[in-house]
Amino acid sequence: MKKVDLSQAIELLNASQVVAMPTETVYGLAARINSEEALKLIFKTKERPLFDPLIVHVSSIEMAKGLTNNWNKICDVLSSTFWPGPLTLIVEKNEKINPLITAGLDHVGLRMPSHPIALELIKKLDIPLAAPSANKFKKTSPTTSLHVFDEFQESVAILEGGSSQVGIESTVAQVFHDKVVIYRPGKITANDIKNALNVNGLKETEVIYGESPVAPGQLEEHYRPRVPLILFDANSSEIFIKEKLASINIDVSETLNYKLDLSPEISSRLIYQKMRELSKESCKAIIFYLPQSISSDEKWFGIINRLTKASLYNFSSI
Ligand code: TXA
Ligand code: MG
Repeated sequence: MKKVDLSQAIELLNASQVVAMPTETVYGLAARINSEEALKLIFKTKERPLFDPLIVHVSSIEMAKGLTNNWNKICDVLSSTFWPGPLTLIVEKNEKINPLITAGLDHVGLRMPSHPIALELIKKLDIPLAAPSANKFKKTSPTTSLHVFDEFQESVAILEGGSSQVGIESTVAQVFHDKVVIYRPGKITANDIKNALNVNGLKETEVIYGESPVAPGQLEEHYRPRVPLILFDANSSEIFIKEKLASINIDVSETLNYKLDLSPEISSRLIYQKMRELSKESCKAIIFYLPQSISSDEKWFGIINRLTKASLYNFSSI
């Protein structure tokens, strides 16, 4: 594995290379926002189409403000409440943002990660870093350095940062002058956002889940492990499971399974890791058993979103 330390990572980034960096959500494939060559290398390395925009990572709120001319009170409240942390704010971009980053859109996603190594890297470099998740397009996001290595082998230098604690990607929300629209659910929920706005004098601001104007984030097929993933409720009967598996020509003995933890924090930390671990072993399919509480609590929305896209068959109630 091509592991690098902080100063080597800075050297590579300055030389317009890409570097895999740890964040609290998932590992990112980072490039300086002011190197077009490095930005192009992100798309090439990931085999990602150019129409899918990248998130820009900053190390301070001031740095974020320097990338937009339209930082409003909502941005103030959300950034001071949730940053550093797993919330991406989509705001109007300014001229510092290369059109490659936003796929030609006039809005850019900004986030201050809380992982100390990512923060230190951006702070020392003193340039924001564009970074999508460090995986091939449509595949499972990496939550450890080993996962990044599995994706790219020696071709990508990796900054070690342990296991990502959140485990699924950030909540992505666009900030308008009177509302916030969440395009990708995550650890930070609509309720969390609503509460923060309420206590900071912005009670009138609407907070909703909505469809992204950008297609890729909404792709039905995403986060897919190498072996087909099948979803069942944990309380499904043996007969039901057997029958459903038979309908797709699979026997229980040919599967490996993971029963999600009752805590959404723990489950979110582990789902991608389990998808990768289990699909490395010899099996025809992976089964995830979902707890009963899953659909009633907003804290599970991010997990439900990832699992429905990652699974080939869904025999659960989500
Ligand atoms: O937690 C995360 O957000 C991770 C870590 C590395 O920070 N990054 C990540 O990036 O998940 P990526 O590129 O894998 O997913 C970003 C999503 C994409 O689905 C993209 O379509 C959406 O955010 N997005 C980015 N910029 C956008 C924009 N300007 N407008 C609408 N959607 C945007
Ligand atoms: Mg991704």
